[in-house]
This record gives sequence, structure tokens and C-alpha cells, in this order.
Amino acid sequence: MRGGFRRRMMSGEEEDFELSQLDRRALRLIWQYVRPYLSTLIAATGAMFLVTLTTLVAPYLTKVAIDDFILPGDLLGLNWILAALLLCYGVNWLASYWQTYLSRLMGETIVSDIRVDLYSHLQKLPIDFFKRQQTGDVMARVTHDVNALADLVTSGFVHLLNDLFTLVGIAAIMLALNWRLALITFTTIPLIVIVMRLLGSRMRQAYHDVRQRLAELNADVEESISGIRVVQALNREAINTGKFSRLSWQNLKANLRAVSVFALLFPTMTFSRVLGEALVVGYGGWGVVQGTISLGVVMAFLGYVRRFFAPLADLSQVYNTLQSAGASLDRIIEYLSIEPSISEPDDPQIPADGFSGEINIEGVTFAYEETPVIKDLNLHIPAGEVFALVGPTGAGKTTVVNLLARLYDTDEGSVRIDGIDVTQLAFDDLRSVISVVPQDVFLFDASIRENIRYGCPTATDEEVEEAARRVHAHDFISSLPDGYDTQVGEGGDRLSGGQRQLVSFARAILADPKILVLDEATSSVDAYTEMLIRRAMNELMRDRTALLIAHRFSTLKRAGRIGVMQSGRLQEVGTHDELMKSSELYRKLVQKQNVVA
Ligand SMILES: Nc1ncnc2c1ncn2[C@@H]1O[C@H](COP(=O)(O)OP(=O)(O)OP(=O)(O)O)[C@@H](O)[C@H]1O
Ligand SMILES: [Mg+2]
Repeated sequence: MRGGFRRRMMSGEEEDFELSQLDRRALRLIWQYVRPYLSTLIAATGAMFLVTLTTLVAPYLTKVAIDDFILPGDLLGLNWILAALLLCYGVNWLASYWQTYLSRLMGETIVSDIRVDLYSHLQKLPIDFFKRQQTGDVMARVTHDVNALADLVTSGFVHLLNDLFTLVGIAAIMLALNWRLALITFTTIPLIVIVMRLLGSRMRQAYHDVRQRLAELNADVEESISGIRVVQALNREAINTGKFSRLSWQNLKANLRAVSVFALLFPTMTFSRVLGEALVVGYGGWGVVQGTISLGVVMAFLGYVRRFFAPLADLSQVYNTLQSAGASLDRIIEYLSIEPSISEPDDPQIPADGFSGEINIEGVTFAYEETPVIKDLNLHIPAGEVFALVGPTGAGKTTVVNLLARLYDTDEGSVRIDGIDVTQLAFDDLRSVISVVPQDVFLFDASIRENIRYGCPTATDEEVEEAARRVHAHDFISSLPDGYDTQVGEGGDRLSGGQRQLVSFARAILADPKILVLDEATSSVDAYTEMLIRRAMNELMRDRTALLIAHRFSTLKRAGRIGVMQSGRLQEVGTHDELMKSSELYRKLVQKQNVVA
């Protein structure tokens, strides 16, 4: 299944959606969401029946008024008919209100349910998924596609029923009143159906293009904004604007195509209706003169013809709605059916005498895609040891961290903490026993306080501050104008690289984990921050097991043992002095890093 998903994602093109694709899965999904609101749906459908009924009755009342009361001159009876007509329109008005209100209420609630479920599902998906998917596409599905679905569940269903009943009802009444006149009027239907189909398919194509172009525009804006530093540093503003204006022009053209088709739609509808009316007036008028048709019937027919074309046009719109909603539903289901690859064990285990922080990696092999990135890795770190991993870039150091924190599962071998396989640990236990300071710190666009608290939402302000003090971040934080309430900006942009690291240290230490993993950033920071970070690290590692992915010599010096990694293999393990003697690679790495030592 994942292979299929991958292929479809990679192809990147939106397949044309056919109604037949609204398969059982899709219907089951919709049903699952509609079921809680069944009573609302029934009430909306009831209101819809009232609307249809009153719509159908009104022209017939007109016929009765003309034939039975106006022409014979019965004014008292006419009053009764007028009262009935008023009542009829009154009920129609009320029922219309309830039909629209209830169906939209139901639809919007369902859509909100789907959106939340989709979001919650996305959060559990494998990290790989997000690396492969364009952010813009994911966003489009949670917002645009879910909204497109709204049309289907709000008005689509009720409209469809309404239109069908109205059409069938009108046709039946017309046939009953005068079947000859009815059949003659119906001759205009093929015309309108053909026109609607022709325009409809053009319009779909045009809207499809518009959406495609809009997606491209969005992607372009998103990319250039997130890369704005590079854009300005490389002086690409003019080139980018040129590219954007080309995209915008294509979007305009696609829109204009859609508009030109759309503009044809209403005049064509009106024309067909007038044609129908002309037939009624012509043939019916002739019948009235001949005495074969009553004037009331002709008037009623005029009323029905007018009411006939609206649902006809509407039906083809509903078809459009179904199509676009179907395509969106397909895109949503595609995401919903990706299983989270990392799942919590049904029967989680905890060590008998609590966690102590011992790490055991045995025979681990792992590949992100096809080529193994970690090959037969064995590593034992007893509780309380400070162990450092070094190795050239791409050696697989961060991958070891990913496996330890169970962002990915191993292909072979096991990763155990205090003797328990990480796949057997409850997520809560795993997250509280290990804290990872990642290589590229990510801060959320919120206050410093909230960022530190991110992993422990229940921590008090005092605990947050205490954590910051321990990693020596308190001084710089309190020197900011807003202190702990300073908003850090998107991705933490308003803080320096070193400050971001200190905040992430505080975040890591707040949970007071037994195991601390520090994936050191490769970028260097100024000497003062470097000093702060060094002091913070002492605190970070106190009384716990620490795995340091070291890029700086100063970090290496803290480690008891050091492991040298290359191309996914642990080549050698020893103390600094031992490795200086025995490992050529280690000597090279240390020499290179001497700059920051
Ligand atoms: N999500 C991913 N999908 C596919 N390949 C990946 C992914 N992440 C990393 N890799 C590959 O795995 C290998 C090991 O990457 P890793 O990030 O573990 O290296 P590293 O030792 O941490 O390097 P650095 O010192 O630069 O941080 C690299 O060849 C990299 O291209
Ligand atoms: Mg790395």
C-alpha cells in the first residue's frame, strides 16, 4: 500500500476524478461522519419535501383560480384561493429557511469533524511522509479539499433530492394537466441537456486548470518566503518576480477561460426557458382559442416551465459539485489511509525498578529507503555514562538518535532502554526517559516560556524558570525586554543560533530525563555563547546517561568513551587517548575540529 501511495505522490498530478470512483470506501467514510447527525439530516430532508410540495402546488392553484373562479366571476372563492396561495408561499419561505439552515449546519459540523480528524491523523504519520510531501499540498488538503467537501455534505445531497423531486413532480403534474402540451414543452429539454453537458465539461476542465495554477502560485509564494534570505542575498528579487508574474498570467488566463464558459451558461439557460415559454404560449394559446385547453392550464404551464429549468440547471451544477468534492474526498482518503508506521504497543512495559537510563543497541540495521544507512550497529552505554559519537558528515550519527528516540523503527536488531525494546515502551514513558536536543533546533512561533514548556505542558512557570537557570539561559532571557514572554518569531528567527540552542537545552532538561541526547549543531556560535553552552552542558549531563553527537573538540573532552562512526558502521570505541593512538580517522576528525576546540 505504501508503495502505491509513494508512486501516486511522486507522479504529482491530480488524476481526473470519475463519479464511479466514489467507491464504497468513500461512501462508508461519509456515512461514518453523517451518522451522528442523522436526525438533522432527516429534518432537513423533511423541510426539503415541504419546499418541493409548495413549489409544485402554487401554479396549480393559479390554474384553479383562473378556470374555476376568475373566469366564472366567483370573487369570494378567489379570496380563498388567494389565502391558500399566501399560505403556500409562507410555508415555502419557512421551509426553505430550515432546509438551508439545517443542511448547512450539518455540513459545516461534519466538515469541521473531518478536518480535526485529518489533522490529528497527520500528526501521527511517519516523518518520511512529510519529507516527501510538499507542505503546500498537505495544507491544501486540510483546508481547501476539506472545504470542497463541505459543498457535498451541506447542499449537495439535499439539493440533489430537491431537484429530482421537483423535476419529477412538475413533469407528472404537467402530463396530468394536458399531456400534449406537456410533451411539446418537453422537446426543449434535450437542447438544454446537450448545452449543459458541453459547457459543463469545458467548465470542469477550466476550473481544474484554475486550481492547478493556483496551487503553483501558492507553492511559489511559499518557497520564496521561506527562502527569503537566500533570495535577497543572491539578488534574485527581479528574476523571481518575473517568474511569479508569468505564473500569475497563466492563472489569469485559466480564470478567463472559466469565466467565458460561465458567462455563456446563464444566457443559454434563459434562452431555453423562453423557448419553452414560447411553445406553451403558442400551442397553448392556440388551444385556448380553439377551446381545447383552458386558460388556467396555460397559465399554470407557464408557472411550471419557469420552475422546471432551475432544477435542471442545478442538477448539472450538483454534478460539478459532486465531481470536485469527489476529487477532494479522494485526496483526503488517500491521507487517512496511510497508517502511522510507528505505533504504540498494546501492552507497554516498564522496567521493574524504574528507569535508570541504560542503552543497548544490538545488531541494528536500518535504511531510510533502499541503501542501509546503519549497518550492524552494536553499542552498549551503561546508565550514567557520557558517550560521544563522532564521524564524518553523513556517517549516520543523527540516524542513531532517530532510532533511539523511535522516530523510526529499525529494520533489523533491537534498541533497548533498561532492557526493554523501545517498541515495547509507552510513548509517554519513552518521551520522559529520553530528551533529544536536535541538530537543527526548532522553536515555535510563541513565547520563550511556551517553547520551553512544549514537551511538558503541565510544568509551572517556576519549573520553566528553574530549567532555564540550570542551563544558564535565564540571564539572557531576563535581559530581553519581555523576558520569558518574548515572542521568538517563526522558527525562532528572532533569537540568535546560540540562544535558540540554550532555549532548547532548557526544554530538554525540563523533563528531567534519564537519557539526554545532544545532536550538536555544526554551525559555530560566538565565544560568549559557546562558553554559556559549555557550562549548560555540564548541567545537562549531570546524573544521567548522555549520548553526545560531537562536532566540537570541547564536547569530545567530556565523554568517557568515544565511538567513531563511518558509513553507518561503528569502527572503533575507546577513550580519547586510545583513539588518538589507534584511529587514523579519529585523528583526522580531531585535527579538523581543532579550530573550534
Ligand atoms: N529522511 C531521510 N531519507 C533518506 N535518507 C536520509 C534521511 N535522513 C538522512 N539520510 C541519509 O542517511 C545518511 C546518514 O545521515 P545522518 O543524518 O544520520 O548523518 P550524520 O552522521 O548525522 O551527518 P551530519 O554530521 O552531517 O549531521 C546520509 O547519507 C543521509 O543522506
Ligand atoms: Mg546529523
